[in-house]
Amino acid sequence: MSSICYKENMLMCEEVPFIDLAEEYGTPLYVYSKNQIIKNFRSLKAAFGESGHTICYALKANSNPAILKIFAEEGAGADIVSAGELYLALKAGFSPNKPAFAGVGKRDDEIEYALQKNIFAFNVESVQELQAISRLAMRANVRARISFRINPHIDAQSHPYITTGLHTNKFGIEDTQALEVYRYAATLPAIDIIGIHTHIGSQIIKVEPFVDTARSVAGLIGKLREAGIVIRHIDFGGGFGVKYFNALQHEALPIEDQAHAGIPSPADIIKAVLPILLETGCSVWIEPGRSLIADAGVFVTKVLYTKETSAKKFVVVDGAMNDLLRPSLYGAHHQIVPAVINTYEHRQVDVVGPICESGDFFAKDRMLAKVGPGEVLALLTAGAYGFVNTSNYNGRLRPAEVMVNGERVRVIRPRQTFEELI
Ligand SMILES: Cc1ncc(COP(=O)(O)O)c(C=O)c1O
Repeated sequence: MSSICYKENMLMCEEVPFIDLAEEYGTPLYVYSKNQIIKNFRSLKAAFGESGHTICYALKANSNPAILKIFAEEGAGADIVSAGELYLALKAGFSPNKPAFAGVGKRDDEIEYALQKNIFAFNVESVQELQAISRLAMRANVRARISFRINPHIDAQSHPYITTGLHTNKFGIEDTQALEVYRYAATLPAIDIIGIHTHIGSQIIKVEPFVDTARSVAGLIGKLREAGIVIRHIDFGGGFGVKYFNALQHEALPIEDQAHAGIPSPADIIKAVLPILLETGCSVWIEPGRSLIADAGVFVTKVLYTKETSAKKFVVVDGAMNDLLRPSLYGAHHQIVPAVINTYEHRQVDVVGPICESGDFFAKDRMLAKVGPGEVLALLTAGAYGFVNTSNYNGRLRPAEVMVNGERVRVIRPRQTFEELI
């Protein structure tokens, strides 16, 4: 059972009612369950059984230092995409020999910093980037371990903005060019080729694209080895989808679209791809973000007003797109439920924030429990790509973040103050 659930009519984070959290810490607010984070990590780890592996947490999903500390303590590696994320990972206690650095646009100063920290590997996305790493490693008189991020041209069947494994995407080296690029890398004196990296997208809710990718990677490793290139490491990326629809059920709540019914768990995906990857004899790393943190986080907001036009009913809340961008950015769905269930009545509404854009919405034409001013709403599965995308748009303060552990609550990031707007 999830650590975020109803006990009778009260929505709870572990042992603490959301209504009390909203009262004590104010809204808008992010709430995380420490035990759900740990459970997510350990169940993914269990899927590997006795096989050696490293789970790198993708910091981009949520880089709150208190959350990073949990993953570091669990022994996770770090998937980073900037010098800032490397700094955060090291500060949080991640082992320096576990970060892998991805991203299509690494700057010289970022490469230098990563070389200085002797990170595990650069996941290289272009020939020019390889040349930059080689040049900077030579200048620093060190060697750089690299994998190439291979773009296998496999459709993740996800939202176009978070699909990364097609040849029309900016990511990685086309699979067809891989052999030539590895051969070139093997001639560079400061470069140590260790392996192959791939990441085909995010919020992938089918097993097949992962299996196809694993087969493609295994096939390529065979070809590279025939060409005399030593590959001993696979970083298989992340992208495991989570259940955004019907995340929580209660007899008083409307039943949502069943699109996410029966989606494979990250463990199901690992079980499907692991035999293919292990067959290569390589060490296997993965780098999930969303699936480790999304369902452990909730965005909490309060209803300010309700209003009706001739065409629509609106619920105006105190949270906005600057606090949780996913619905505005990708039309993403978060189930919205009341912190306290007071009624079995439903209404079809748009849930909107105070920002001066019609794009500022959390839900459109959504059946929702009937709510009125002062009631507290929870947007579920908001732990990933939530707070990290906040801004001060419209002069709004970034929300606070709190962590619940049993009956205890800790502020892990205070609400911003007006002074911090300057
Ligand atoms: C290179 C890389 N690895 C891992 C991830 C994490 O993906 P997810 O949060 O879907 O698991 C991303 C996300 O975009 C990524 O770009």
